[in-house]
Amino acid sequence: MRWIQSPRELREAVAGRSPGFVPTMGYLHQGHLALVRRARDENPLVVVSIFVNPLQFGPGEDYDRYPRDPERDRALLEAEGVDLVFAPTAEDLYPEGFATRVEVAGPLTARWEGERRPGHFRGVTTVVAKLFNLVRPRRAYFGEKDFQQLAVIRRMVADLDFGIEVVGVPTVREPDGLALSSRNVYLTPAHRREAPKLYRALLAARDAARAGRTVAEAEAAARAVLATIADFTLDYFAIVDPVTLAPLSDWVPGARALVAGRFPEVRLIDNLEVYP
Ligand code: PAF
Repeated sequence: MRWIQSPRELREAVAGRSPGFVPTMGYLHQGHLALVRRARDENPLVVVSIFVNPLQFGPGEDYDRYPRDPERDRALLEAEGVDLVFAPTAEDLYPEGFATRVEVAGPLTARWEGERRPGHFRGVTTVVAKLFNLVRPRRAYFGEKDFQQLAVIRRMVADLDFGIEVVGVPTVREPDGLALSSRNVYLTPAHRREAPKLYRALLAARDAARAGRTVAEAEAAARAVLATIADFTLDYFAIVDPVTLAPLSDWVPGARALVAGRFPEVRLIDNLEVYP
């Protein structure tokens, strides 16, 4: 497995090879490894990037304390048979004078996470566009855990004719239902026990949908579960169109429930398809 820091060296290593690409911020868990395995199954060459992207963190967010463990990441990726890891520094990707931003405009980025984290998606699309230009992948793999991010990247790839297949990979969960996230390490033991109720709320919405209830009734069922989570401040719960992420009043195929909120020490998000 090659470990490359410099963008120029990366371009040379992948020239003409159209790899499968898994962009990450490191501190890898089984959710990332599910992306890597899927990429390895579908592509002769697999590139993983590890870069904690300062542009997608707002003031007061956790950029400085975001968990990092490159040695462990290296061992995990080696064991998965990854061909190449690209691990640049912020100076490598954003040298002196870097001034470009790539932005998906409109409601897709303005609502939900966009409303709570202004500038976040602009940071994500800027770095992902840059990584796509460096790696030139045939396919790129993203977790459904960040469902809005996935929708935003699909929009960018279509709008800017990147010609890359964007593959969404289902969320990997702990046995109690908590969606895997690098930030779960921040949870106190008490809040770790409360956190799976987010998933239970999503399941309550899905159960209601399956029982023939309306969108409003499914939402009420989920909110009833969310109201029982100790020390938790709900940012939003919504049942949305799976492509535009606009809130729904009637069911559409693939309707998705989105949830986000905060314990004092960490913010969590999750989502689930609630209507087939
Ligand atoms: O999902 C992530 O880990 C990041 O947002 C990504 C896509 C690697 C861009 O920094």
